[in-house]
Amino acid sequence: MTATTAAVDETSQPAVDQSQERPKHILRTLGKSLREYKTSSLLAPAFVLVEGILEIAIPTVMATLIDEGITGGNMPAILKFGLILLLCALVSLACGFLAGKYAAIAAAGFAKNLRHDLFEQVQGFSFTNIDRFSTGSIITRLTTDVTNLQNAYMMIVRTAVRAPVMMIVSWIFAFRISKEISLVFLVIIPILAVVLIGLAAYVHPIFERVFHTYDELNNIVDENLQGIRVVKSFNREEHEDIKFGNISETIYNNFVRAEKILSFNAPAMNLCVYTALIVISWVGAQQIVASGNDPALGLTTGDMTALVTYALQILMSMMMISMIFVMVIISRASAERICQVLNEISTVRDHENPVTEVKDGSIEFDHVTFRYSDSSEKPVLDDIDLKIESGMTVGIVGGTGSAKSSLVQLVPRLYDVSKGSLKVGGVDVRDYDLVTLRDQVAMVLQKNVLFSGTIAENLRWGNPDATDEEIRHACQLAQADGFIQEFPKKYDTYIEQGGTNVSGGQRQRLCIARALLKKPKILILDDSTSAVDTKTDKLIREAFHHEIPDTTKIIIAQRVASVEESDLILVMNAGRIIARGTHEELLQTCDEYREIYESQTQNKAGEE
Ligand SMILES: Nc1ncnc2c1ncn2[C@@H]1O[C@H](COP(=O)(O)OP(=O)(O)OP(=O)(O)O)[C@@H](O)[C@H]1O
Ligand SMILES: [Mg+2]
Repeated sequence: MTATTAAVDETSQPAVDQSQERPKHILRTLGKSLREYKTSSLLAPAFVLVEGILEIAIPTVMATLIDEGITGGNMPAILKFGLILLLCALVSLACGFLAGKYAAIAAAGFAKNLRHDLFEQVQGFSFTNIDRFSTGSIITRLTTDVTNLQNAYMMIVRTAVRAPVMMIVSWIFAFRISKEISLVFLVIIPILAVVLIGLAAYVHPIFERVFHTYDELNNIVDENLQGIRVVKSFNREEHEDIKFGNISETIYNNFVRAEKILSFNAPAMNLCVYTALIVISWVGAQQIVASGNDPALGLTTGDMTALVTYALQILMSMMMISMIFVMVIISRASAERICQVLNEISTVRDHENPVTEVKDGSIEFDHVTFRYSDSSEKPVLDDIDLKIESGMTVGIVGGTGSAKSSLVQLVPRLYDVSKGSLKVGGVDVRDYDLVTLRDQVAMVLQKNVLFSGTIAENLRWGNPDATDEEIRHACQLAQADGFIQEFPKKYDTYIEQGGTNVSGGQRQRLCIARALLKKPKILILDDSTSAVDTKTDKLIREAFHHEIPDTTKIIIAQRVASVEESDLILVMNAGRIIARGTHEELLQTCDEYREIYESQTQNKAGEE
């Protein structure tokens, strides 16, 4: 595809609805990106679980080793339980390794798919969708937000199953040893849960703000770097620096606030851990003294060792759950933001049974009204009626902001009409297959862009299969061959990102050539020769006239000379076509047109 896809350097506002997505909705949307990493996502917790269960078994074996072997001085028992202990430790180690490996694969793979899905979704966006998200915000979502989710997911597959299972199993084991002592946990766990949930509710909005500010930061960086030349020529470095510093400071402040609140997590945890240990030791010691360390009479030292280990297991699990909690709090804001992009429905979608052939280059506007956003009061284009026959050359003139670009952007369906209908080749543009339509309607955007790569590569955007001969021919028509031949590497000259190493006029001619290579039925030039000298401009128009007579040509221009010979000239003002006709007719009938023409010819005479 040519220039149509190239111009996403919009001046967008972060107008995205920040309303919260429902958790169930979020999980369903994100779950779709798991795909081939589902197995790893299941294997990781499975291995973690085995590892955990073995870790729970170890204290029991240890207790038996102490009570039957060491306390009784029984060497064969020591050996037997010692070996079992070693085996448990080895298998647990192996499981730990495998769990880590699969967790890493699952998380990194999930992130890869998510990034891919986001990118693909953005590629499918219409101009209206793109207007809703700022470039910076899309970049944050693709990078920081995805990384947050990756970290959270890693944590979740490793601990979300293990922690609760460990907690419950440890508690059951502890319960079997001492009912009274295991009750301690039943009191502590709910208290901790309430504290954690309270923290989460309090901190979530702060993180939401942080990510929103990240968007602004990225927007500033993006805008600044894109326009670095303008920044420098206006000496605005310091101003930009301050702007960046302020945003950066806001992020810092919000992060510090959020982390300050989250730091209550650790002391709350510790308080619970130590209280639990003190109570267990106190109650346990009393019971051991009462039983005289006799298994038949009650609690023994071995039991006590196991109990303390279980207590630590339970508290560790709680610690892990609280960490997942923090992670989920941080990543929830990210998840919501990612889902906003993934669930954004493209406003320009293919028809169910699309038409895949454009008959000819005729265009018909039937009472077309257009607004960029549904909420705006005044339409940008108001009740446009216009018939252009195939092969005609149509010129459009009018003041800045008179909606010339808005009018022609509807033809390749960069935006959809708000009211009325627009037909190309006798068929409503909404009935076409989008690729078919945009292949036949080539548009050189006012804000044209070249991509990093050689000249030939850039031109092949118009037609990937174009031969060298065809490329050269298109460049000759666009009057670009001449200067390309002067470059040492000719068609293999490397174009820097954004086309910074060619002049404005050269870039415009390359963009015209790129559009010509599509061999379209309709060619739209939106102010595409504004940086080209009048003589070359004339040569381009003559070449069009002779070489592509059957192509419908729409030329938007500031210079009347660029449209003078058109079959039809439209004069636009404030979203309406105020006059139409040939050059001679308009000179007679349209005061505005005559004024523009005279001011331009007088200037010229003056210069000469
Ligand atoms: N993406 C956009 N979102 C919202 N409003 C827009 C957008 N693009 C243009 N407009 C508005 O639509 C109106 C018409 O703009 P348009 O770009 O069509 O004018 P134009 O005639 O092409 O001007 P110029 O000669 O300067 O290129 C302007 O008031 C402008 O502010
Ligand atoms: Mg314009």
